[in-house]
Amino acid sequence: MQRLGVNVDHVATLRQARRAGYPDPVTAAALAELAGADQITVHVREDRRHMQDRDLLILRQTVRTVLNLEMAATADMVQVALAHGPDTVTLVPERREELTTEGGLDVGAHKDALRSTVRQLRDGDIEVSLFIDPEVEQIRAAHRLDVQVVELHTGRYCDADSDRQRTRELTRIVDAAKLAAHLGLRVAAGHGLSYENVRPVARIPEITELNIGHSIVARAVLVGMDRAVREMLELMRTA
Ligand code: PXP
Repeated sequence: MQRLGVNVDHVATLRQARRAGYPDPVTAAALAELAGADQITVHVREDRRHMQDRDLLILRQTVRTVLNLEMAATADMVQVALAHGPDTVTLVPERREELTTEGGLDVGAHKDALRSTVRQLRDGDIEVSLFIDPEVEQIRAAHRLDVQVVELHTGRYCDADSDRQRTRELTRIVDAAKLAAHLGLRVAAGHGLSYENVRPVARIPEITELNIGHSIVARAVLVGMDRAVREMLELMRTA
């Protein structure tokens, strides 16, 4: 079965809506781990719109599984990562005005900057993942940069508005996962996955990890984090 990384950013989004001290994403992470999450994923944005440096500092001390930091490939964020030492960094494209991460990294277009970022992080003993669209050229470019992991962007599959389009997008993910695994990369996937659409992705054997945030936190608001995580794990297990 795939590992589940629970992204707790949206707990911080709720907190930051009022600049309050609650709800605390650190508590949410602990509850997710107790419910069986294999990893805690957080996106520290350059504008700190949801996760704060304080969250990362405490999560590094309290996460008992694996801490995966999503971040932009900038010099400032590399310093943040090296200071806090997450187990994995997932490099993502970031634009301030976007609602959420839209599209994967264009690895080929930014290969020189990415190469130096990847090197600094790996020298700091941090595993590096690149968040990319499920495309042959992106996977080959990621492989050339000597990263250990690629996370395939599942957004287009999740947003598909017909069965035909969904099947086509799923096939792209399957093919991309096969190629990445063949090249020796570990394969993760995420973005937009929900209780309704997770199962076909959970069945792809080459994918070893799913990172899921919005749907789990949204359900947790209504039924609690424990049940929200367990229900997702059950769907993955029985897929
Ligand atoms: N993986 C990556 C690389 C992401 O940027 C995000 C969104 O922060 C996710 C997974 C989780 O996406 P969602 O919140 O839609 O489940």
